[in-house]
Amino acid sequence: MASSDRTNRRPGGLVLLDGAAVRAAGTVWLVGAGPGDPELLTLKALKALQGAQVVVHDGLVSNEILELAPAGAQKISVAKRKSRHAYAQDEINRMLVAFALQGLRVVRLKGGDPFIFGRGGEELEACREAGVECVIVPGVTAALAAGASAGAPLTHRGVAQAVTFVTGHAAKDGEPDLDWDSLARPNQTVVIYMGVSTAAGIARRLTQAGRNPATPALIVENASRTDERRLVTSLAGLAEVAATLTGPALLIVGEAMALAQAGEPGQTTQIEARAAELGGK
Ligand SMILES: C[S@@+](CC[C@H](N)C(=O)[O-])C[C@H]1O[C@@H](n2cnc3c(N)ncnc32)[C@H](O)[C@@H]1O
Repeated sequence: MASSDRTNRRPGGLVLLDGAAVRAAGTVWLVGAGPGDPELLTLKALKALQGAQVVVHDGLVSNEILELAPAGAQKISVAKRKSRHAYAQDEINRMLVAFALQGLRVVRLKGGDPFIFGRGGEELEACREAGVECVIVPGVTAALAAGASAGAPLTHRGVAQAVTFVTGHAAKDGEPDLDWDSLARPNQTVVIYMGVSTAAGIARRLTQAGRNPATPALIVENASRTDERRLVTSLAGLAEVAATLTGPALLIVGEAMALAQAGEPGQTTQIEARAAELGGK
């Protein structure tokens, strides 16, 4: 736990100082919950969760993971939906700080990794501004789980010298503001988060900038969850396949995706198969 947790704490954030009880600020733990499979939670994330008094979580965090928090911990969903935000980011920042200032151990549980398209940086800044200790626990980001499940390496000697994580979220004019010329160069992997609704524009821009339409592509929906779907296509087919999706998904474009194996829910993933071999599942 954090250094402040080694002090002589009492319930309710009270600390004994020269025999007198004074209120001490709690800590915000910014924790990556991984892509969904509870077995992809880190041990550090599990420990933080087990010590939580308040859990403020995203919609992408599964119930199976939330159940690992103590039964008595207060659990607050701040799930964001496309058109309706349950909580604005400012409200979430204020909530985290307010709980910590009450002396509580707050776990801010986020899907994947808190610092990969997770707005974790803003929450960290809010804590720093308020003088609240913030501890970051990294998580397995969705891209790593997607590549692992499909047996498709994100970097691969000779065909994928680099991997770039980009957001497909439309910044302006209905399309993301990205360096298309750079992303169109061959022998690199481009992983697009939040790109399902903008897939057609992304594929068009990449192709116009010179990326070969035949470049292999992989789409993974609900990576690492029981309803995971892995769809193998090409840059030219990206938009058509993306149109069939309903859950959170990643679009991955790159020569190394030629190694990807398709799969439907219920089929054993690479991770599950190996875990079963090891007697883990
Ligand atoms: C706001 S971003 C959060 C990313 C998260 N911090 C991470 O590191 O994975 C949400 C997007 O991540 C991707 N995503 C998150 N979890 C996923 C999963 N289990 N399978 C596929 N894509 C996922 C989707 O593109 C989704 O729209």
